[in-house]
Amino acid sequence: MAETRLTTADLIAPLFVAEEITAPRPIASLPGHFQHTLDSLVAEVTALVDLGVCAVTLFGVPATKDAVGTGASDPGGIVQVTLRRLSEELGDAVVLIPDLCLDEYTDHGHCGVLDASGAVDNDETLRRYQAAAVAQAAAGADLVAPSGMMDGQVGAIRAALDEAGHTEVGILAYSAKYASALYGPFREAADVEIVGGGDRRGYQQDPANRRESLLEVALDVEQGADIVMVKPALTYLDVIADVAASVDVPIAAYHVSGEYSMIKAGHERGWIDGDAVALEQLTAVKRAGADMILTYFAGEIAGRLDA
Ligand code: PBG
Repeated sequence: MAETRLTTADLIAPLFVAEEITAPRPIASLPGHFQHTLDSLVAEVTALVDLGVCAVTLFGVPATKDAVGTGASDPGGIVQVTLRRLSEELGDAVVLIPDLCLDEYTDHGHCGVLDASGAVDNDETLRRYQAAAVAQAAAGADLVAPSGMMDGQVGAIRAALDEAGHTEVGILAYSAKYASALYGPFREAADVEIVGGGDRRGYQQDPANRRESLLEVALDVEQGADIVMVKPALTYLDVIADVAASVDVPIAAYHVSGEYSMIKAGHERGWIDGDAVALEQLTAVKRAGADMILTYFAGEIAGRLDA
């Protein structure tokens, strides 16, 4: 009688890969997750594929950062190197969806480049995203996933990919991304510190807004998004349902780091059954209308689901 069934094929695993480290580094606030070396990342993706998880999203942790986030578009940057290795070794067994943003690569921690006043320069940032998209596509990305919430990012990236001949590379757009307090553990995982304790409210959405998401999503679809995403997931089930009712493209939802870590912490204290809560929450995200879910639970829950 179940109306909704969560399957392994619904899951996309977010993973971190760090440059110039010799052993995987555990991420304290994301129990069970690591900043991977290139080799341990390849082993992790292989294990996920064996479990039936057929898509991964990648975040890079570069050895050095600078003002323009050079590592994001450098063909020798850690994510590009990793994409090349994964596509060589695993081919079509896994869908590679690198996160496309600058914050992991900038020394100020913002998702874009800054102007003289220290504000994020939207249009200059689009040029950096275009370069990063082309570098990721050339390295083997199947889809790119712009997460910076700059205005016009999907159209700019689509044009750059097409111009470089990567017409077959798709875009999973972080369309409705909120300025959430639930990204805390991610910032440890990706070594991101926003300068001066700054925030992202200039480009991410106000959690108080619901209809605004429909506008953001409509703009992305118009500009060529192949999949639109709502993020975070559980705190925005109403938004997922609205978006699912308003567009024809597939819907992704990101069950983010804080949503994962709260379950882990509650389970460690013996206050909730973490395995049961994880399944309940992810099923709710799908019930609300998500066709696929980015979740740090992908590896551990896959074995308990149907294919
Ligand atoms: C930005 C990005 C963030 C996350 C994914 N992409 C952080 C942010 O916007 O501050 C957060 C994911 C999570 O919390 O799991 N590159």
